[in-house]
Amino acid sequence: MSLPTERTEGHRSPEQPQRAEATRLTPLREGPLLVEGPVEIVMPDGTVERCDRPVVALCMCRRSLRSPFCDTSHRPRLRRERREREKEEKAEKAEKDKQEEKAEERAPE
Ligand code: FES
Repeated sequence: MSLPTERTEGHRSPEQPQRAEATRLTPLREGPLLVEGPVEIVMPDGTVERCDRPVVALCMCRRSLRSPFCDTSHRPRLRRERREREKEEKAEKAEKDKQEEKAEERAPE
């Protein structure tokens, strides 16, 4: 099943003005959501955060100290996960090598 690549005005109510261009959102894998700016974000307490950058990175991992904006706090987690994955792969390879050595020792010459 493929996702639609473009939406038409199917969910737009008649009162909503039609915008010339759609706002582009780009979710990065295991990172922030990039939004074409400028943006205004209404926070849960009603305050408005405004950012005039051409592209704004919004935190999706909830670790940012500058919420709602990404402060790259997601990166240490990615590095840690990569290190753990490499460690697991190394341990698996060592176990496989060990089993191959045992199999060679048992094999008749
Ligand atoms: S996505 Fe970057 S700090 Fe959360």
